[in-house]
Amino acid sequence: YSDHYLKGKKVLITAGPTEEAIDPVRFITNHSSGKMGYALAKMAKRAGAEVTLISGPVSLTPPFDVHKIFIHSAKELLKEVQTCYQDQDMILMAAAVADYASVKIADQKIKKRDQKMQLELIKNPDILAWLGEHKENHQILCGFAMETEHLLENAAAKCEKKHCDMLAANHLLTPGAGFQSDTNIMTLITPEGYEELPLMSKDAVAEEILKRLYRISQKSTR
Ligand code: C5P
Repeated sequence: YSDHYLKGKKVLITAGPTEEAIDPVRFITNHSSGKMGYALAKMAKRAGAEVTLISGPVSLTPPFDVHKIFIHSAKELLKEVQTCYQDQDMILMAAAVADYASVKIADQKIKKRDQKMQLELIKNPDILAWLGEHKENHQILCGFAMETEHLLENAAAKCEKKHCDMLAANHLLTPGAGFQSDTNIMTLITPEGYEELPLMSKDAVAEEILKRLYRISQKSTR
């Protein structure tokens, strides 16, 4: 690889959690720190790519010199992705998108009342699946997965179902891997098979992922 192996490539990366509002003061979210997505943006930029980073609310400083778009909900994320996906050569969906959102967003703060209360949820759009259905042949699509059990089976099924060129699967319950950590243990799944990476910094994992995606893109244009 040359130092700038992604020169001339447009790379879209989504990062961080989504926030699904319940009322003006409350929302549903998850533990995503955004570190994996931000590491991907930094390393893609360093490799010469033109990077767009769409990020949920995180407490990280985004890399310098990338296009930055900030969103809260999955629906906002879908809208931003739909606006810019067509120009992209590689799309990496590292965001931890909430699977469900509240059916209603109350205008006023919901008051405490009964002992029990119910919150009705509705499925969010699956953005990665949408991309899998709409991507052009030359576009490379990478999904991410975090599982607490049956990691490989679930991730391989997801890779196929969502038409991904690669799925990076996270070992959530292994020490040194997962949400807030600066290191990660990942298994990279492609339609050809899988490869387990050793414990590495998220920057190093990001570099491995980007290099493999680059290799896949070289193959598919030959
Ligand atoms: O099926 P699961 O949610 O585990 O898939 C994870 C992958 O799908 C991630 O790449 C995530 O960004 C993406 N995803 C999405 N839209 C959703 C849920 C997940 O794009 N509503």
